[in-house]
Amino acid sequence: MAGGGTCPERVRKVREHIAYARSAKGGQTRQGYSALVNNEATPRVPGSIAPTTRSTTSSCGRHTRVGTSAIAGLGYYLPKDVITNADLSSLVDTSDEWITERTGIHSRRRADKLHATSDLGFSAAAAALEDAHLTADDIDMILVATATPDSPVPATACIVQKMLGAFGAAAMDINAGCSGFLYGLHTADALVRAGAARHVLVIGAEILTRVTDYSDRRTCILFGDGAGACVVSARGVFELLYTGAGADGTQLDLISIPAGGSRSPASNATVAERQHYLKLDGGRVFRQAVRRMVEAGHAALAATGLTSDDIAWAIPHQANARIISAVGEQLGIAVPKVVMDVAEVGNTSAASVPIALARARNAGSFVAGQLILLLAFGAGLTWACQIVRVGEAR
Ligand code: UT7
Repeated sequence: MAGGGTCPERVRKVREHIAYARSAKGGQTRQGYSALVNNEATPRVPGSIAPTTRSTTSSCGRHTRVGTSAIAGLGYYLPKDVITNADLSSLVDTSDEWITERTGIHSRRRADKLHATSDLGFSAAAAALEDAHLTADDIDMILVATATPDSPVPATACIVQKMLGAFGAAAMDINAGCSGFLYGLHTADALVRAGAARHVLVIGAEILTRVTDYSDRRTCILFGDGAGACVVSARGVFELLYTGAGADGTQLDLISIPAGGSRSPASNATVAERQHYLKLDGGRVFRQAVRRMVEAGHAALAATGLTSDDIAWAIPHQANARIISAVGEQLGIAVPKVVMDVAEVGNTSAASVPIALARARNAGSFVAGQLILLLAFGAGLTWACQIVRVGEAR
């Protein structure tokens, strides 16, 4: 997958890749796999998932299962500094009572001034590698999902690559808002199953406090900093059974940072107008978040032939406790089975699902054989969903 020279180690890795691709389930080479996916007439492999019905908005579900992929290691990082509801009450006209009742959030984390998103991503990635019993040399691709990159160019993934010393890996960022980590899993799954990569590092990392307007009480109560990461390999503790992703660009105005890009480059005026801060149409986003995550969950269940009773845990994007509960209720998944991790972490956008997954795993919540539904929704609009099966812990 990666660049790099023709040193013996690289040659060995490339040969291993080719051997791996040829030995993948179904005996498909990388080329053969593409042909299988693109040929609708080809009989599907047993237990594979039917194509999703296309609507006016795009939706990319799994069409066939060739090969396997799994989360082989997990890690997360939360900065120590805490912003409490009381802290926010001293900045804007709000109260602990209002924030707790409307969001379920009591506090959120803030990164050290000296740190950038790559620093948080690096810490989570190092923990995920250790958990997977792999080293940086094993990684073929680094995907960093973030809406708050260190800078527009270069990709934060390249900075993390340098920090890890993962010089055999290709690296790029994914901008899919709060759905970014699940988009990363969707991409990593395809790369691994196709034999194009053996180990993909997927990182969701954000320093949202740098783009949060602390004079806007409707948004500043929500966001915090953090990072979560995983290694996706052919085998691991959370086997990926289903993945799907979708987007609706007609609703791009609901969540945005208006300035700082080619349409509205940074200027004194954009700074004065506070256009570099995150803007959110809270009520409309709330309704879309529930609707899209519920639809994505239903699509996953329909595609796999599962029912909500088969799902042991749902882990929706940790946007707001009310959104999380509504998604669980509308999917028919009882609230105790819905992971709620907003109280002390807040909304960490692309980092929220991997942080919640890692913290629930570390708390001993999962039992081998259980199915977990991962759901995300974010700016774009984007949404994504995975179903994973818990394997035996190492
Ligand atoms: O991660 C993906 C992107 N983000 C989200 O998913 C967030 C989705 N949205 C939300 O979580 C909620 O919409 C918010 C928490 C942002 C707002 O909650 P809400 O229940 O939708 O409140 P609202 O915007 O409908 O506002 C209700 C009232 C308004 O007052 P009036 O007009 O009824 O007098 C607001 O001005 O609450 C007022 N308000 C506040 N009051 C005290 C809004 N924010 C605050 C606040 N403190 N922080």
